Amino acid sequence: MCGIVGYIGTKDAREIIFNGLKKLEYRGYDSAGVALVNKNKIEIYKDKGRVNHLEEITDFSFNTNFGIGHTRWATHGKPNMINSHPHFSNNKRFVVVHNGVIENYKKLKIEKLADYDFYSETDTEVIANLIEHYSSDMSTIDAIRKTASILEGSYALLVMDMMDLDTLYVAKNKTPLLIGKSEHGITVASDSMALVGYADSYMYLNDLRFAIIKKDRVILKDILGFDLDFEMQDLKLTNLDIAKGNYEHYMLKEIDEQPGVIRNLIDKYFVDEEVNIDSEILSKIRLADRIYIVACGTSLYAGTVSKYFFERLCKIPVELCIASEVAYNMPLLSKNPYFIFISQSGETADCITVLKKCKKRNLHTLAITNSLNSSIDHLADDVLHIFAGKEIAVASTKAYIAQIVVLSIIAKGVANNRKTNLKNNLSKVALAIEDVFNNKNLIKEVAKKIVNAKDAFYIGRGIDYYVCQEAALKLKEISYIHTEGYASGELKHGSIALIEEGTPVIAICTNEETNMITRSNLIETVSRGALGIVISTESLSQTSDDIVISDVASYLTPLVSIVVCQLIAYYVSVLKGNDVDKPKNLAKSVTVE
Ligand code: G6P
Repeated sequence: MCGIVGYIGTKDAREIIFNGLKKLEYRGYDSAGVALVNKNKIEIYKDKGRVNHLEEITDFSFNTNFGIGHTRWATHGKPNMINSHPHFSNNKRFVVVHNGVIENYKKLKIEKLADYDFYSETDTEVIANLIEHYSSDMSTIDAIRKTASILEGSYALLVMDMMDLDTLYVAKNKTPLLIGKSEHGITVASDSMALVGYADSYMYLNDLRFAIIKKDRVILKDILGFDLDFEMQDLKLTNLDIAKGNYEHYMLKEIDEQPGVIRNLIDKYFVDEEVNIDSEILSKIRLADRIYIVACGTSLYAGTVSKYFFERLCKIPVELCIASEVAYNMPLLSKNPYFIFISQSGETADCITVLKKCKKRNLHTLAITNSLNSSIDHLADDVLHIFAGKEIAVASTKAYIAQIVVLSIIAKGVANNRKTNLKNNLSKVALAIEDVFNNKNLIKEVAKKIVNAKDAFYIGRGIDYYVCQEAALKLKEISYIHTEGYASGELKHGSIALIEEGTPVIAICTNEETNMITRSNLIETVSRGALGIVISTESLSQTSDDIVISDVASYLTPLVSIVVCQLIAYYVSVLKGNDVDKPKNLAKSVTVE
């Protein structure tokens, strides 16, 4: 969480930092701040609220070629002006922006910084003051390394030193940081998106790396202070890849991109009818007696759907693991476990914690991510990408679809089952999603019916229940309606008590075996006042059903039914006037545990 950008060079630093921060707002948007060099001074502007507001309160009258900026997702301390970054050290020599969490900051305050004053509730001020503390008898980079050596937790740090306004200092551990280079200067940022337009090449910093950055060069160091060689790679991302186009919201654009994402994955992962995935990965999975899927949020729910594929197609049992849970409570493992980590960002802290524990135990790990070069990519034994393109809306849509598609292709490859024509079935899914788009007006009508609800339920059984979990997450995160995804048969064991006059209960009925029983469960709620809504497939549909999707292979229906639910959530959010792409309290990339 939190996005940081720094620039040193010959161009207008303010422009580069503000444009970068706007692109990084998906990482958090509680407050924003910048520190800019104005001749021989550092000027700080910061406040609660978005980058647009920061722009309004920042002085644009002076030229500046060096600065750092921050957009915050509050962890330590309320989102207010005082807690906003950048933070000064006590003597105002050092200015710091920080992404991450310092776990031992309270202890460090007492043990090392008893004589220092603290103005904010943040852990970051401790870093600024530790650097000041050590700098009395060592160089700035050594003071930063020394500080890093006693910090427990995660940090991507940018540091400015009043005594040397030609140098930007950088430190990195456990949260992402990239250094981009161009003819006019160096830009540092939490995500490559912020480098687009300002760098031709970039490097991804590894953990416990430090850099001294001048406008035309980078000196990379390890924690012991030794210089390290490095290579820059070409920055291929362009502004077009991250543009909103004619859309009002990224979320709708990303929903609409889904058929294209599926077709792209078919091209990437099939050669003719054969699965095109490294045979070693497939062999390792074949040897497993249990697959452990580790993920958070939407990625976890994509993993849940894949349980169906691996168990039915490959006959390998699957255990779903909430990353934050197994991080400190690893399940009893089978003899030959195989771990699959699913993460859109590739940076989710809880997943990284589990991945590191797996590595220590020499367990096989495969990562499925949307971010080439992410931390999870680097840590896992093997990686498969979902090639969904940048997903910018906080509520994940196309990544979920792409994760399920990749998982289905892996399962097909592992099973080596020639009977399932997955490639053809996936092509039909892409067409069926386009059919859903033709029904957007009907979906808007459903949204109107539920917009004023306090609570809502999605119900289904089996594979439909798995979709219900993701559908409920979508609705709650952007509409703020309390929604639960329930196994339809389980509802009557407690939660049916919450049904009131008009409570929306949306049943997903795409499976022949469970269709009628799910409908009965829906009727049980309607008898108690619920507003029943049905999403079904053509072959199972009844005349009164609200949304009917085209038939596709039964195991792939989640890829179509979820699109209806994504659109319901989207339209409800729009009707409520919510900030669809940046819902309250959330961040897209959760880099703290
Ligand atoms: C956050 C995002 C979710 C995402 C989850 C896991 O909560 O808002 O959309 O599903 O993190 O993120 P990951 O990048 O690991 O898939």
